[in-house]
Amino acid sequence: MPKVVGVSFGTRNGNNDSICKEALMGAQEAGAEIEFIRAQDLDIKHCTGCITCVKMLMSGRGNMCIHKDDFDWLAHELYTADGIIMVDPIFETGATGLFHTVMDRFGPRMDTGNNFISMQIAQKALAEGGKGVVPPACVFHTGIPVAYLGIGGSDWGTHIQSDHAIQSMTPAWKVVYNEWIPWSKKALMDDEVVARAHKIGYDIAKAAEDPEHAEYMGEKGVCPHCNCNDFYLYPGENRAVCAVCGLQGKIVLKDGKVTVEYAEHDATDENGNVLRDKNGAPAFPGLVDERGLCRAHDTMEGKQIHGEDIGRMEGELAQLQKGDEYKERVKRYKEFITPTMPSADKRYAKFQELGAEDPQPEGAR
Ligand SMILES: Cc1cc2nc3c(=O)[nH]c(=O)nc-3n(C[C@H](O)[C@H](O)[C@H](O)COP(=O)(O)O)c2cc1C
Repeated sequence: MPKVVGVSFGTRNGNNDSICKEALMGAQEAGAEIEFIRAQDLDIKHCTGCITCVKMLMSGRGNMCIHKDDFDWLAHELYTADGIIMVDPIFETGATGLFHTVMDRFGPRMDTGNNFISMQIAQKALAEGGKGVVPPACVFHTGIPVAYLGIGGSDWGTHIQSDHAIQSMTPAWKVVYNEWIPWSKKALMDDEVVARAHKIGYDIAKAAEDPEHAEYMGEKGVCPHCNCNDFYLYPGENRAVCAVCGLQGKIVLKDGKVTVEYAEHDATDENGNVLRDKNGAPAFPGLVDERGLCRAHDTMEGKQIHGEDIGRMEGELAQLQKGDEYKERVKRYKEFITPTMPSADKRYAKFQELGAEDPQPEGAR
């Protein structure tokens, strides 16, 4: 029996909780064991960017984070699930801050590729009689079918699908649904939304029975690779970059419909050399680069390219940090100004009260 875990990021017993539970009812109807988690009930701290996780993984010392909180428990519940449903309120056109925090905590630490490299390093060290900690097996459970539902109180939601889909990349989950549900302040009273959530839960449970054949079942998107509808457009050029998979293409109007077409290979000059930008990267990258690898962020090859880029940058930084010039610059900024903090009597002060003594604008009294 597959296990489907539903995570709600909304208020207690609000629309997100209820719609998540409706999806779980659908999953249960399809024969799944179900579990419901409320993200707001957990203690999940922000990623500080300390990169301890990367250092530990890359030295074969296991999968860890400096924080002591509920993230590891949440990650374990998700990695050991067969299907996942995430229901998240839309905040400022995108995912909630809490969802972003969870996404950041997945970060490089939970990346399947990084953990694979770490496993190899640890196994080699152990085989040679040295010390090593192999990451837990569940981190290699990839391809888990996932449905994202973004619930908004208005029609401001243009970032929600891309925010959600990006979260699926680190653990390499399979996005089956990625829904933007606008005008849903009362979603739990909307029978169409309720029925849709029920069907999504049912379908996720079915996909969880056969994850290898799980396919995207949502509405077809503009991006022909990942179904994203969110693109970065370069001013003055016909160049669109998919906000999720990162593929770059040209915008084409076909039968009055906007599409983005990706070239198969990197653009080259008349001598066949790849045209590069000032950083040495292909200026007009194709779907497949000169190494014959697919560039999309959500493929193992694309992840490897990204992993190599990050490794190179971290290496350059580590070298620079040893030098006097780097230390001098850090010292200069450190000594320039210190951060302001609230005084003891203003700690946790209320904005309403803080503003009361300020000069009032004309007519505001
Ligand atoms: C800080 C904040 C920002 C919001 N921004 C948006 C928004 O940009 N677009 C939108 O459709 N709804 C927005 N909403 C409405 C929420 O999506 C809505 O209140 C939520 O889905 C209700 O969920 P609940 O019943 O589970 O608490 C916002 C709400 C809050 C509190």
